[in-house]
Amino acid sequence: MTTILVTGGTGTLGRLVTERLRADGHEVRVLSRHAEPYAVDLREGGTGLETAVAGVDTIVHCASTPRGGDERAAQHLVGAARRAEVGHLVYISIVGVDRVPFGYYRTKLAVERQIEASGIGWTVLRTTQFHDLLAQVFQVLAKSPVLPLPAGVRDQPIEVAEVAERLAGLAVGGPVGRVADMGGPEVRSFESLARAYLRATGRKRAVVNVPLAGKAYREFRAGGHLTPERAVGEGTFEDYLARRG
Ligand SMILES: NC(=O)c1ccc[n+]([C@@H]2O[C@H](COP(=O)([O-])OP(=O)(O)OC[C@H]3O[C@@H](n4cnc5c(N)ncnc54)[C@H](OP(=O)(O)O)[C@@H]3O)[C@@H](O)[C@H]2O)c1
Repeated sequence: MTTILVTGGTGTLGRLVTERLRADGHEVRVLSRHAEPYAVDLREGGTGLETAVAGVDTIVHCASTPRGGDERAAQHLVGAARRAEVGHLVYISIVGVDRVPFGYYRTKLAVERQIEASGIGWTVLRTTQFHDLLAQVFQVLAKSPVLPLPAGVRDQPIEVAEVAERLAGLAVGGPVGRVADMGGPEVRSFESLARAYLRATGRKRAVVNVPLAGKAYREFRAGGHLTPERAVGEGTFEDYLARRG
């Protein structure tokens, strides 16, 4: 049995990673700002973090927020992990963080670099967007009668349970560095994904494709966040929507 700390273990991905590892008999600690007894804000660190990492073999780092502070959080986590002599640090990242100059992606890339330089054995998996994220985005956009989409952008969403399975598998193995990217089964236009969402949720909205400015948009349009050669996911967006009901 291994003792594993899952940061962000209450989130969309972390919850499933935690369930999977527990089902396989590992002792799993869940850390998040609100998860007792390891309620820690990683951006602040402190004694709660030292307690959470003490005696841990492996850390699966899923905690993140696009609102900022991930680099500081990683600095605290790496420092505490080093002091506790943790053997393996597993990080979940996003396909194209090194290609698309989008603020959150730059931060994810910087955290990858921190982990690689940590001196701790590490593993990094990059995946495409989870179906859940697209559904959240479309839900927000569908609040208005006209649903605006970034013109010419495609996506390759993936089933988060499949990512959790892979990440849990990596967590119980040894450090292997950067592993092959993982993408969903289909590369599709945002418009086709949005229309699938509207159909499944019984909403009628006009869809408008809006061209945007900037380098990040240009790289999204060019497909820098896609990995068609690694379309290893099986669950489609429609499968996800049907299951969600
Ligand atoms: N969503 C996607 O499409 C996607 C695709 C590829 C990779 N990823 C990566 O996968 C990871 C998980 O994504 P997700 O969608 O599962 O995220 P999520 O549902 O938003 O969950 C984020 C988790 O992080 C915790 N957290 C946030 N800020 C924290 C802080 N300062 N200190 C401690 N815990 C904190 C949250 O719990 P509290 O609120 O209780 O702190 C929550 O458990 C992220 O690294 C993300 O970049 C996501």
